[in-house]
Amino acid sequence: MGQTKIVAANFKCNLTRAQTKSYIENLDSALARDFRAESARVAVFPNQSALLENKFSTLTIGAQNATNAQNGAFTGEIGLEQLAEFGINTILIGHSERRTLFYENQKNVAQKFAFFKERNFTIFYCIGESLEVRQSGKVAEFLQSQFEGIDVKHKNLIIAYEPIWAIGTGVSASLKEIQDTHKILRSFSSAPLLYGGSVNEKNAKDILSLPNVDGVLVGSASLEKEKFLQIIDSAF
Ligand code: 13P
Repeated sequence: MGQTKIVAANFKCNLTRAQTKSYIENLDSALARDFRAESARVAVFPNQSALLENKFSTLTIGAQNATNAQNGAFTGEIGLEQLAEFGINTILIGHSERRTLFYENQKNVAQKFAFFKERNFTIFYCIGESLEVRQSGKVAEFLQSQFEGIDVKHKNLIIAYEPIWAIGTGVSASLKEIQDTHKILRSFSSAPLLYGGSVNEKNAKDILSLPNVDGVLVGSASLEKEKFLQIIDSAF
């Protein structure tokens, strides 16, 4: 398929530390064995209690979330100091589950972005509209509003477009919807653009073949290593 694609797994609040460790070690071995890692840049975002040292040869370990501080009185959070212990310098910011379930507003998200950008993190910045916004026909305006306070020129930026209505529903956005939306996003930024929302081993190849799709961010289907490996293979 030519250009290297980015294939990322977001485990969310799934898998124990033991399960995650075994999954990632096996994934790393499988990728190393078959030289698959040469065609895809793989990142895994495990649950916070299952963070592993970022020392694998074929994949990067990232954090699903962290607070924008070195350390301090932030009950329930992890900060830079905890990430540094694992050698982690990749983070997801702005995931719709953080925005909707944990009330992170655009200001919080932008502060977090600025903090980790300053520390040169690779930031997977997530955006995506609700069904209501999609039906109102105001997708471009809405997505643009999710870039408020965000430096789209950050050199280690990866943008993940994840329409909320396609996350965890088993129904991905259509190829046309993905293509049209990524075209809009390309006009906002030259950063790699990932699609996320019910990506699985069956639809990944078609999605990854679309123009302006530089990779995928996978939730549910990444929980089984074999399925995730098949998705990585679709990037060839
Ligand atoms: P699903 O693949 O389960 O729809 O989740 C997508 C997602 O939110 C990845 O960040």
